Amino acid sequence: MSEPVIRMSGIKKSYKMGGNVLNVLKGISLTVNEGEFLAILGPSGSGKSTLMNIIGCMDSFDEGEYYLSGQAIHSMNDNMLTDVRNEYIGFIFQKYHLISKYTILRNVMMPLLIRGETAAQAEMTARERLIQLGMGERMDHKPAELSGGQQQRAAIARALVGDPKILLADEPTGALDSATGKEVLKLFRELNEKGHTIVMITHDLNVAQNAGRIVRIVDGELFEE
Ligand SMILES: Nc1ncnc2c1ncn2[C@@H]1O[C@H](COP(=O)(O)OP(=O)(O)OP(=O)(O)O)[C@@H](O)[C@H]1O
Ligand SMILES: [Mg+2]
Repeated sequence: MSEPVIRMSGIKKSYKMGGNVLNVLKGISLTVNEGEFLAILGPSGSGKSTLMNIIGCMDSFDEGEYYLSGQAIHSMNDNMLTDVRNEYIGFIFQKYHLISKYTILRNVMMPLLIRGETAAQAEMTARERLIQLGMGERMDHKPAELSGGQQQRAAIARALVGDPKILLADEPTGALDSATGKEVLKLFRELNEKGHTIVMITHDLNVAQNAGRIVRIVDGELFEE
């Protein structure tokens, strides 16, 4: 058996608000194997984004262990976390998070430039990814000149460009109309069939049902479906 991509146990996270303590994650355990497409389904306020930020190495936690591709995340400092994040995670957000003053091509090059690749190398890889995702004709446009679905496609190209271990998506269809949302979900299923590991967070059961496995988060606790 190969090492799971995600192996977390007993993850707890709380926020102190004035004199009160809000326990947001109450001991989360989760294993995700390579090649899985997992949906984390839960209502507003259940802790989805908090968990996503921890999975994505963007936030710390109070207790528990987290191994990402065998790397002990719980014992890393901020600099190490930044490196792991850049190398292992491709993020996809509800509102795309493309940089508006850059072209689509430049946006997709960014993760590679941050890693220290030359502009020529980064451009070659970014062009390839955009062509694969059907965005070959739109590369020189700015994000505002594209439809929501095209912007999300570009954001997916950016997430994939550095060959991350996981694609981590938070409500990836939340800003799209239902037909365009279905297109994006179809693309996720195709990427998963090609071997990409995907973790998608959503409050919508219809969206979650595109995944191969669903776990529910309710009030800071996880339940397998
Ligand atoms: N930085 C923070 N400080 C204090 N409380 C927070 C903070 N971030 C989140 N919370 C609280 O933690 C709980 C879970 O928030 P979280 O954003 O993880 O929920 P969510 O499931 O993503 O909800 P939504 O579907 O509305 O995005 C909420 O009660 C929220 O108010
Ligand atoms: Mg959220």
